[in-house]
Amino acid sequence: MGRPSDPGSLPLEPYRVKVVEAISCPSREARESALEAAGYNLFNLTSDQVYIDLLTDSGTSALSDRQWAAMMVGDETYAGSRNFARFVEVVRDLTGFPHIIPAHQGRAAENLLFSTLARPGTIVPNNMHFDTTRAHVLRNGAQAQNLAVREAYDPESPAPFKGNMDVGKLAALLEGSSGKVPLVMMTLTNNTGGGQPASLENLRAVSEVCHRHRIPLYLDMCRWAENAYFIRERETGQGARSIREIGRDLFALADGATMSAKKDGLVNIGGFVATRDAALADRLKEALIVFEGFPTYGGLARRDLEAMAVGLLEATDLDYLSHRVAQVRFLADRLKAAGVPFFEPVGGHGVYLDVRRFLPNLSRDDLPGQALAVEIYREGGVRTVEVGSVMFGDGESPNNGESPLELVRLAIPRRVYSASHLAYAADAVIRVYQRRSSVGGLRMVHAPEHLRHFTARFAPK
Ligand code: F0G
Repeated sequence: MGRPSDPGSLPLEPYRVKVVEAISCPSREARESALEAAGYNLFNLTSDQVYIDLLTDSGTSALSDRQWAAMMVGDETYAGSRNFARFVEVVRDLTGFPHIIPAHQGRAAENLLFSTLARPGTIVPNNMHFDTTRAHVLRNGAQAQNLAVREAYDPESPAPFKGNMDVGKLAALLEGSSGKVPLVMMTLTNNTGGGQPASLENLRAVSEVCHRHRIPLYLDMCRWAENAYFIRERETGQGARSIREIGRDLFALADGATMSAKKDGLVNIGGFVATRDAALADRLKEALIVFEGFPTYGGLARRDLEAMAVGLLEATDLDYLSHRVAQVRFLADRLKAAGVPFFEPVGGHGVYLDVRRFLPNLSRDDLPGQALAVEIYREGGVRTVEVGSVMFGDGESPNNGESPLELVRLAIPRRVYSASHLAYAADAVIRVYQRRSSVGGLRMVHAPEHLRHFTARFAPK
């Protein structure tokens, strides 16, 4: 079980099912009227209107029996809960960071960190900012700069670590304006750019440049275990090491991290900020008390902390990770056999369709990614998400509203769907691909100022 399945073979589940949840596919007419009522924004659909939900891998995991059991030992004390002590012990052991500040999810952790460190006139570099990370940087008046390597923008490049940062660009930025950079972030894996990993070697070089300029390096560690899995698989000398050992090396290079445990924490809600800086930890805790709650619960029920402690450890299990990556590859192999273009190599949490090659007849003004996500739902009741000009082209981006990548993500929730579900989703995408010339564009009829993909409304052109 320690290895991913061979290409094309079925991903073998390292678990069996104990509880089931009924799902069914709405009729074609029901899907059509759901789309209309939703303003062609899939975020507005209800779960009953969706058959296979590949909108996100965030907070959508199935909990294990051990996590459910752990929740029964929830100690709902306001201050000093036992669950907090256990949670801190696990995070310290995994990361080596001494100060752990719980938060209800990743963006709450981002709010604490960026409202404390980012100021107008400052610049926050990242390999690629995720949408909420970028929104927090901008909200605090700072500039968000993406410094990913060139291959990160090429969906066809087979490079093994397309989540790497361009160290030369980072060094040039810090040489010119280190006084303006309060911290450097690295997102593991790079969710905005196809779920691609960064290598240990790259992180070492980034860390060296940051520390030469006395600038702290923070990891957005949402999917760090998947990133460590790829390091184990692809980086020289790492193949015999455990995910936890590789993780310790990653964290040793950084000064802290933000975490959405809704991903590689295998929980439905939860997150944290971790840091080596005691003075900063005190300031973060002050913000925490205002925004989230007392520092020993951080906006969560104490049972959630216990579930997170168990989930963080389960997410490092090699059988679990092998199966997870095998699921992504199973979906990708099926699409590839039908010629469907997607971002390669596939990453750790989903397949990202390459919209520019999928729908070459649509222009940027047709919002092709959104149009494709709508069409896949229309075809099979499968919900995906656009990661392109609707998500990132809101005029605040450094490249005048043009997203460098135009993708539709099929994110795989953890431990939720079977191979038949994934095959069904792939077949829906393939049918759309086969009639791609019939797919029309969309226009945006309501465009909110920030994070517009969540609430925008569209109409067929
Ligand atoms: N950072 C990254 C890289 C993320 O992917 C996310 C969330 C966050 C931060 C914020 O965490 O949702 O717990 O507040 N990504 C989800 C997604 C929403 O669908 O990719 P959160």
